Amino acid sequence: MSTPATGPRALLKDATLRLSEAGVASPEYDAAELLAHVLGTSRGRLALVDEIAPVDQVAFEELVSRRAAREPLQHLTGSAAFRHVDLRVGPGVFVPRPETELLAGWAIDRAREVRDAPVVVDLCCGSGAIALSVVDEVPGAQVHAVELDSAAHAWAERNLVASGVDLRQGDMADAFPELAGAVDVVVCNPPYIPLEAWASVAPEARDHDPELALWSGDDGLDAMRVLATTAARLLRPGGWVGAEHADVQGESAAQVFLAGDRWTEVRDHHDLAGRPRYVTARLAR
Ligand SMILES: C[S@@+](CC[C@H](N)C(=O)[O-])C[C@H]1O[C@@H](n2cnc3c(N)ncnc32)[C@H](O)[C@@H]1O
Repeated sequence: MSTPATGPRALLKDATLRLSEAGVASPEYDAAELLAHVLGTSRGRLALVDEIAPVDQVAFEELVSRRAAREPLQHLTGSAAFRHVDLRVGPGVFVPRPETELLAGWAIDRAREVRDAPVVVDLCCGSGAIALSVVDEVPGAQVHAVELDSAAHAWAERNLVASGVDLRQGDMADAFPELAGAVDVVVCNPPYIPLEAWASVAPEARDHDPELALWSGDDGLDAMRVLATTAARLLRPGGWVGAEHADVQGESAAQVFLAGDRWTEVRDHHDLAGRPRYVTARLAR
């Protein structure tokens, strides 16, 4: 007997319950996003749908099962929203997170303060989320981005095609030698999870984000130290650096910039939940 057509409400209720039981943090939202994806519509327009055809029910059921097994929502829909842009994402690239939108917004504000053609560098660019937001929101910005991992770099290439961003594959440690002393803003969401925090990381990240995107030595700050050295090389005197960190690194990440006399105006910033989230500093003049 074939599956009869049914309404979206019953399907969503059942899917929400299954996702909730599987430990998904936002079960109702995810169920609606998946159904909208299957139907080729938006979450807001699901209320206009009366019946779901059997073929769509099967496709939805498959996606709900994968989400219940903790595959990231964005891998299932193939895209991630970030500020005003959409990024294509999937296996091999870090899924951009809402909390990073704050750091990107800070970099955008600093770039807008530069009178002509601000030069911005996104180190560890992953999908290209920060770099793409900067070109999208800062008219005339010259944006450069670098990513070490070849799979992640391939996703960034897709997302940044025709954007004008100068994308390179390589290590941030020696990236952009030709820009030394010429950059207005360096922004970076580096890998920062301490190795000992492995057990506390959600399965979506632990099992699906690339390892190179997550871990960074015993204290999680190995990449932060490289980024501070690279930013000091790239920035003009008075230029800004901003970098995301784990919520337990509010003091230790700032300490990376407070050591020595290269940096001024070192400040840590909180996210919308009030947790320490990113550090900013200015290269001494
Ligand atoms: C946490 S992810 C952030 C990606 C992106 N900026 C975002 O916010 O969505 C960190 C990224 O840094 C890359 N990465 C790690 N070490 C690197 C290095 N030494 N040089 C360049 N990229 C690096 C990883 O491959 C990963 O894509």
